[in-house]
Amino acid sequence: MSKLALVTGAKGGIGTAITLKLVAQNYKVIATYQVGNRESAQEWHREHGFTDNQVQLLELNVNDPRMCSERLVQVMQQEGTIDLLVNNAGITRDKVFAKMTVEQWQEVMDTNLNSLFYVTHPLFAAMCEKGNGRIINISSINGVKGQYGQTNYAAAKAGMIGFTKSLALEAARFGVTVNVVAPGYTGTPMVTALRPDVLDSITAQIPLKRLAKPEEVAACVAFLASDEAGYITGETLSVNGGQYMQ
Ligand code: CAA
Repeated sequence: MSKLALVTGAKGGIGTAITLKLVAQNYKVIATYQVGNRESAQEWHREHGFTDNQVQLLELNVNDPRMCSERLVQVMQQEGTIDLLVNNAGITRDKVFAKMTVEQWQEVMDTNLNSLFYVTHPLFAAMCEKGNGRIINISSINGVKGQYGQTNYAAAKAGMIGFTKSLALEAARFGVTVNVVAPGYTGTPMVTALRPDVLDSITAQIPLKRLAKPEEVAACVAFLASDEAGYITGETLSVNGGQYMQ
């Protein structure tokens, strides 16, 4: 029987690569997309030739606690317990701190960090009851090292790591592991939208001299989700071309 995964922000650059990888490994993927984006989500589903048995779309604002608890409980009633949760949805609102608005701060904290509570909480008890499961949180190199213009994003991404280590301690006795994948600059629309001069200066700082491929990030998610990774928990796996070594 195929395993059930839930991937937030599934139609983004890294989310798409993760979804494709999991489908190739015979998971059924519940792929969440933001309210209002139904058409582009359906287009994405068609474009990749997914069947409804492979990928099921779920309209979900990960920054809305009530919507998350209601819709995720429904998903479990219809589909069963989630085996693998990938908290991948994330946004940037880059601005130097002095010019950052409280809205830019809050939007990023809600979508990138508070969503971990909103999405994980409704699913967690059932995963523990089942006695196995994987939670993988997609953080960022910038949550580990900090980044000029990203006080909001780096704070949220660093917070994901603290959340992961703490939940890993609580989840271990139930056979549920919780880990972080921390991508560096990856060839996705979020990164390629950067100003060309800024992107060039960042790429110059990467020892491997290129952006990560989304598939390279997805491969790490698949590894942490695998049985072979059963003894790894509370860990942060960096995929950053050597740009920052902990
Ligand atoms: N370190 C030190 N100084 C820096 C700097 C840095 N990394 N980046 C910029 N500065 C300096 C500039 O040299 C400039 O100095 P002067 O005024 O003396 O010339 C000053 O800061 C202002 O820089 P900008 O002209 O770039 O200012 P801006 O207001 O137009 O833009 C910014 C500010 C939006 C933060 C822009 O610098 C930027 O986009 N930076 C990149 C932020 C970034 O890396 N975002 C990652 C997005 S992708 C992602 O987040 C995915 C992931 O997980 C990796």
